[in-house]
Amino acid sequence: MASYFLYNIANLVVAQSENDKPLRGKRQGELETIPDAYILIKGGLIEAFGRKETLLTPPREYTPMDMKQSLVMPAFVDPHTHLVFAGTRENEFTMRLQGTSYLDILSKGYGIHQTVQQTESASFDELLHLAQNRLIDLERYGTVGVEIKSGYGLKPAVELKLLRVIRELKKNTPHPISTTFLAAHALPMEFKNKREDYIRQVLEETIPEVAKEGLADFIDVFCEKDVFSMDECERILLKGASLGLRPKLHTDEFYSIGGIPLAARVEAVSVDHMITATDEDLQSLQGKDTVAVILPGTSFSIPHTKRDYARKIIEANIPLAIGTDFNPGTCMCYSQQMMMELSVLLYSLTINEAINAITVNASFAAGLHNSTGMMKEGYRADLISMRVREVNEIAYHWGINKIQRIFLSGVKVEFEA
Ligand code: NIG
Ligand code: FE
Repeated sequence: MASYFLYNIANLVVAQSENDKPLRGKRQGELETIPDAYILIKGGLIEAFGRKETLLTPPREYTPMDMKQSLVMPAFVDPHTHLVFAGTRENEFTMRLQGTSYLDILSKGYGIHQTVQQTESASFDELLHLAQNRLIDLERYGTVGVEIKSGYGLKPAVELKLLRVIRELKKNTPHPISTTFLAAHALPMEFKNKREDYIRQVLEETIPEVAKEGLADFIDVFCEKDVFSMDECERILLKGASLGLRPKLHTDEFYSIGGIPLAARVEAVSVDHMITATDEDLQSLQGKDTVAVILPGTSFSIPHTKRDYARKIIEANIPLAIGTDFNPGTCMCYSQQMMMELSVLLYSLTINEAINAITVNASFAAGLHNSTGMMKEGYRADLISMRVREVNEIAYHWGINKIQRIFLSGVKVEFEA
């Protein structure tokens, strides 16, 4: 494996955790950058970095690479994706933009249920191929580490199929990937009048099988009015946790129904959406390491939704990460770059807060913080360079793909821009 000497870096972003914890409050807004920097990459890892003049002997055995006065930083981590599905739902998207509610569409058997049908009829190989291509698309916009959820199976056998697709994807790619079993995404139509039977199936059949096969790192639920109640979610998350699956939640996308205090009680790794979080909800997360994941792309499909929640999370001293929520219903966008820009342009984050959110804190929310998402010696050399010179230019020059080069575990990815 080649060793590289990256030089002529206009600015190097040194995003790092503190005391091995996600960044929060004032610290989330602090970001060191090194002007005129270099990086040494060896064995796929970051060996050293710093200001160019501190490098005494230019290393001979390293292949030099001119970074052409670009901005270099850890590659993005996406802590929330639904990457494995078949079909699309553009009709529903248009209806929602015209005012039909997401939850109404779901309760009538469309929405998630449509993707469930299309996913069930797709073969293992088709789903793998779709997911593989999507992973490459994510990467082109700067994302290397990814959390991937199941959730479009609902039935035990189909959920297991989706988790096995993710396992196969992991085998075939050098991307760091964590896997989430989304155990309660929607009540299957055939269980409409048999809620408890479905919960029992999840608790007694699906979760034990997922754990036995070691198919997931995390367990997730959609804790939302008219979807799954706080009590149902608690039972599911606790069962998963008892078998080694660490909890995550989709909650407060539309209503606050106790999902955030539940996240605090079960010491969730992350609590995602958070749009309708109340002050008391935010209070319940005090002192926890649970990361709040905001999903700005999803808010586009919920017209007139709130925009002040991201700032409230930071001001409540809760670590904040950004994800795409890439899925066929609410966010068909896999660009973390775009999410970072939206966070600054619409959700009042500073660019420093957004960069820490999409690297360091995203790596914690994805459970990948020991290997990627930070500028640290010994970490995987998952790096990107962008066609800007400094961080303030990122959201200023928004809406275009600024990725110039990508290093995936120290290997330069060849792609045509
Ligand atoms: O995170 N909110 C629940 N799940 C997904 C959307 C799933 C879908 O509509 O297909 C989300 O937004
Ligand atoms: Fe989601």
